[in-house]
Amino acid sequence: MASKVRTLEPTEAMQPVLQPTSRSSPLKPLLVSLCAVVASVTVVASTAFLHWPAGEPSVRIQHVPISSQQILSQCAALRAKPEPPEDFLARESSDRFQNGTKPTLIRNAAIWTGARNGTETVFGDVLLDKGIVKGIGYIPVHLYATVEELQIVDAKGGWVTPGLVDIHSHVGVLSVPFTESTFEINSRHGPIVPWLRSIDALHTHDAAFQLAAAGGVTTVQVLPGSANAIAGQAFMVKVRQTAEKSPTSMLLEPPITLNGSVSDPSAPLRWRHLKQACGENLIQYGNRMDSVWSFRAAYDQARRIMSQQDAFCAKAEAGLWDELYGQDYPESLQWEVMVDVLRGRVKVATHCYEAVDIDDMVRISNEFQFPIASFQHASEAWLIPDVIKRTWGGTPAVAVFATSGRYKLESYRASEFAPRILADNGIQVIMKTDHPALNARYLLYEAQLAHYYGLPPHLALASITSVPAAAVGMQHRIGLLREGADADVVLWDSHPLQLGSTPRKVWIDGILQVGSDEEHIIIGRGKDGREWQSNPKVQNWDVERNLSIKWDGLPPIAGKTRSGRVLFTNVRELWVRGEDGIQERFSGSETNLAEVMIEKGRVSCVGRTCAGRSTTDATIDLHGGSISPSFMAFGSPLGLEEIQSEQSTGNGAPYDPFVRDVPAILGDAGGVIRTVDGLQFGTRDALIAHRAGVTYATTALSQIRITGVQSVSPIAGLSATFRTGSQHALAPNAVVKPITALHVIVSKPPPFSWMGRPPVSVSTQIAALRRLLLDGEDERTETGQWFKKAAEGTIPLVIDVNSADIMATLLRLKREVEDKRGSFMNMVFARATEAYIIADEIAQARVGVILSPPRPFPATWDDRRILPGPPLTNDTALVTLLEHKVTVAIGNQEAWQARTTRFDAAWAALESDLRISRLQAHALASTNLEKLLGVDEWVGYDGGDLVAYDGGSAFDYASKVVAVTSPAQGFVEVFP
Ligand SMILES: *[C@@H]1O[C@H](CO)[C@@H](O)[C@H](O)[C@H]1NC(C)=O
Ligand SMILES: *[C@@H]1O[C@H](CO)[C@@H](O)[C@H](O)[C@H]1NC(C)=O
Ligand SMILES: *[C@@H]1O[C@H](CO)[C@@H](O)[C@H](O)[C@H]1NC(C)=O
Repeated sequence: MASKVRTLEPTEAMQPVLQPTSRSSPLKPLLVSLCAVVASVTVVASTAFLHWPAGEPSVRIQHVPISSQQILSQCAALRAKPEPPEDFLARESSDRFQNGTKPTLIRNAAIWTGARNGTETVFGDVLLDKGIVKGIGYIPVHLYATVEELQIVDAKGGWVTPGLVDIHSHVGVLSVPFTESTFEINSRHGPIVPWLRSIDALHTHDAAFQLAAAGGVTTVQVLPGSANAIAGQAFMVKVRQTAEKSPTSMLLEPPITLNGSVSDPSAPLRWRHLKQACGENLIQYGNRMDSVWSFRAAYDQARRIMSQQDAFCAKAEAGLWDELYGQDYPESLQWEVMVDVLRGRVKVATHCYEAVDIDDMVRISNEFQFPIASFQHASEAWLIPDVIKRTWGGTPAVAVFATSGRYKLESYRASEFAPRILADNGIQVIMKTDHPALNARYLLYEAQLAHYYGLPPHLALASITSVPAAAVGMQHRIGLLREGADADVVLWDSHPLQLGSTPRKVWIDGILQVGSDEEHIIIGRGKDGREWQSNPKVQNWDVERNLSIKWDGLPPIAGKTRSGRVLFTNVRELWVRGEDGIQERFSGSETNLAEVMIEKGRVSCVGRTCAGRSTTDATIDLHGGSISPSFMAFGSPLGLEEIQSEQSTGNGAPYDPFVRDVPAILGDAGGVIRTVDGLQFGTRDALIAHRAGVTYATTALSQIRITGVQSVSPIAGLSATFRTGSQHALAPNAVVKPITALHVIVSKPPPFSWMGRPPVSVSTQIAALRRLLLDGEDERTETGQWFKKAAEGTIPLVIDVNSADIMATLLRLKREVEDKRGSFMNMVFARATEAYIIADEIAQARVGVILSPPRPFPATWDDRRILPGPPLTNDTALVTLLEHKVTVAIGNQEAWQARTTRFDAAWAALESDLRISRLQAHALASTNLEKLLGVDEWVGYDGGDLVAYDGGSAFDYASKVVAVTSPAQGFVEVFP
């Protein structure tokens, strides 16, 4: 378009000067490649200047470019703001409608619409057709009487909500199972890369799309990573597979400039999305001062371009074409999105954790005058609400995790009370997964936990629907159920804030994604009681919340110890460790409650009334709550580090003998070392776990991160079992069993070897294991001694392994060793995602299994064959293993996850279709684990610790831990 046009009709050329262009004029957006065609012919256009502002000459000679109309349209378009057409909700059909989709009528539902800040519930029906919600509430028969092939779903009074919206996801760009070739989230080309776009790397085969839908998630914001300050453009993506199977067809309202041209110039302007990040993740490009400068330099660049555009347009709109002679409209494909940010046309998602980072960004937003849609992660936002409110252009929403924290220094002050505190300060709260940091499937769980820790129910549901939808400018389509909204709908098996709530059916664009009748999966059995259909009662956390504020995020966590007699009243249930797992000592009802006396940490009386009331040290009313054995954490580095990514707060990694020789000073080829020598007491994660009823932990030196990267040796040393609540290693009974098990890791070479260890083949790892178990090293060395014990079965050999193929090899190796040695090996598979595939063989070999995480995730190639459970399959891995009589336990991977162990256990029972009882579920994270690790007698020879819950059992959101009784320590610890 470089040719110069030499003729021009005066009236045609001048008209735009007199007629302001409308918003629907063609070619508004900046990506339009405008090769300003300037006419070099001088024209006299006296009539055109009749309305020229006073002071201007009444007749002038101007060089008017042939493209003047185009230029003026473009200039006018700069003032356009993204917004849907006013009558958007009156549309007849969705642009995402897929031909052939049958209309659906959901009848008899309790519909949480999201309206009125999440307080509106409508009882009635929902009609879906043409990809949109056609009716809601009372739907007159005539609206659907003539509709052909109407699919009718009876909700039977069950809850219906809008599809969930995850504002922070990397689904598709960090696709699972992880491979070297699909790590698409961070650019290595500098801190400022706004020109990158997540859509350009969206892998449609990511297994997480289907898993997200199975959790009721229907739309996600796919963000680039956080290792760049301005990391690129994000896109809203619906998680259903389209007929076209392309990334493009999964987009929700992509900007009309996506392909560098405008398909429909009259279409309204749409929101664009940008990801920014600050703080620790930018370390590769310098420190915080460097990254803030990189922001300012980039915004300065964008501001210059914007000023040039504005100056150019001011002249064009004033008709001063001579002054523009020979000039092109100023623009830059590299910087255009940032110019749009400055023009307020981009929803900027900003990843910032600490006060220093948030404050930096708020100053940058004020310096360059652009709004921020949301602060993401923002683990200190709750400490500085007033700073957030100083953001230019309005207070951003704040997106946080519920309980995830302390994985790096920035998140050290993350608080479970943040959602409530932010809401109390009038800030919009969003819960998100940062998938794969958390599994996209469990976004709802984040909202449940936020609710458990004090966020009101309507805001908890809004935090994963209407609020994120509004924060990305998509509330006209998603996040609310109303006529004209996208037909993204979830029918739940119980109230969505109830633990384990599972979608019965999920529709996206009116198309059923989950829960087809032909597939027939059993969902929600056992949840018939009315209590399941209302939001769960939760405890009051005012005291804890205020202490957290007072202590700036690091409140004291320990309780008060009572070594005398402590009486628990109104106890509904007392469970203890027994010969065969968990045993019921007392089970009452609402009207049949007991008293339990604890003396020196030991149960001394259970009955309607216990004597000696007058001499008790303390009396604690459990309000119908229960007392049951404490839980044990397994699988994470709990007790070995304070902050995961800060080496200086932890024990450090063992030598990897597969990569380099272990230093001669150790005199040990395998470099077997002991966790107990590196244990730290009083880490926040351990104390929080203790306070949540997880009083024991068994920790090894293996650290498998979510990506499967092994940051340590396959020879993961000797684990230790300890008390999470002890002050120091020498405190009475702090170390329960100093050497618990020998741990090894066997896996395929992990992806991202540039991040982890160099690849070592599976057969090499097995060969080494075979040698060590059969005739191995000198018994006077640690390696020789402990592998011999493992081969003889006098210490458990815990193998971190995910692949069923590798497990099969290990079962063969076990038999080989046992045959040659005449021994029985005490073998346990941990993590063990694919164990269910060979459940029978595992059972016959009498190998135990510790599933960690407790709900599967296909993170690597080794654990890609997950058994996802309802609503995708009838069975879960846990059920399958238990039915094959394998001794099964559950663990987790991150230290912060220990605190919610009791909910993991409860959830296992809830999704088992009544095949796992409450007692069995409790054992998964207590007695089964203790047995598999050989610490049952060490923990339980005197009964072990018990935990007292106020208001409910270990399995309820209604309860809170109020005391821990410890016979070994001879006291009861009471929490305020
Ligand atoms: C969908 O059906 C309509 C009406 O039959 C038709 O005009 C349109 O081309 C179809 N679209 C596609 C993508 O097949
Ligand atoms: C919703 O809440 C916001 C902020 O808390 C408030 O400004 C607004 O008026 C509320 N809207 C409705 C419909 O209650
Ligand atoms: C799930 O279990 C039910 C009841 O046993 C059975 O009818 C159904 O076929 C099962 N579904 C699948 C997919 O196996």
